[in-house]
Amino acid sequence: MKFGILGSGMVGRGIAAKLVEQGNDVMIGTRDVDALMASTASDFMGNPPFPVWHAQNSGVKVGSFAETAAHSEVLFNATNGYGSLPALSQAGESNLNGKLLIDISNPLDFSQGMPPTMFISNTDSLGEQIQRTYPRVKVVKSLNTLTAALMVNPGLLADGDHTIFVSGNDSDAKAQTTEILKSFGWHDIIDLGDITTARGTEMLVALWLRLLGVLQTPMFSFKVVR
Ligand SMILES: NC(=O)c1ccc[n+]([C@@H]2O[C@H](COP(=O)([O-])OP(=O)(O)OC[C@H]3O[C@@H](n4cnc5c(N)ncnc54)[C@H](OP(=O)(O)O)[C@@H]3O)[C@@H](O)[C@H]2O)c1
Repeated sequence: MKFGILGSGMVGRGIAAKLVEQGNDVMIGTRDVDALMASTASDFMGNPPFPVWHAQNSGVKVGSFAETAAHSEVLFNATNGYGSLPALSQAGESNLNGKLLIDISNPLDFSQGMPPTMFISNTDSLGEQIQRTYPRVKVVKSLNTLTAALMVNPGLLADGDHTIFVSGNDSDAKAQTTEILKSFGWHDIIDLGDITTARGTEMLVALWLRLLGVLQTPMFSFKVVR
């Protein structure tokens, strides 16, 4: 299957590597391919510059946001929260329409330092803003409540016995997302309802960030006991 990942950070890289390992045709999208392929600095988390990662993951294609969206049958949004709507605009509505977009982004504002605040919350969510902006795209919010390494390898923690959520308006899109999540190793998948329920998982990240401060490791997750 042809997958496109909008976003070249640790989330996009992790999803892309997993999908290639599964035998898919995968492209990562970025604002400026030449700049990305010439980057030499590690990010603030210590992740290596993109070319270093790409040398070890050369099966992943790299393109503009528009090339990536045009290439793909299914898309992931793994862009910075403030960059998500601009990235989708660059991807181009005609390249997005009718497709499943699994939205992993969080509306985090780091401008005042750590922990970040949320620039959308309570009565709206970034997932909803994306769905409102692109009514013909099948937006499913998922995977935004845990660290990148666990998204595609939940078994790294508690033998995979923790919970992941899906939110979206389109039942078929959520069913397809659920199959993708199962292929990543997820078992406990809760369908929260329509895209407005993304408010819950986006705001859960405020708790996740406080736990990160206390636990001093991102290797934790939420489990809904019931
Ligand atoms: N890191 C995690 O473990 C984690 C966990 C859960 C959810 N999330 C969410 O997942 C998303 C990706 O996180 P990340 O840590 O992988 O990377 P990130 O640093 O949040 O985002 C990197 C991507 O955002 C793009 N971007 C930044 N500003 C932009 C703008 N103004 N216009 C268009 N694109 C822009 C970058 O484009 P270029 O390629 O051109 O630089 C890059 O591809 C975020 O929304 C984050 O909140 C992250």
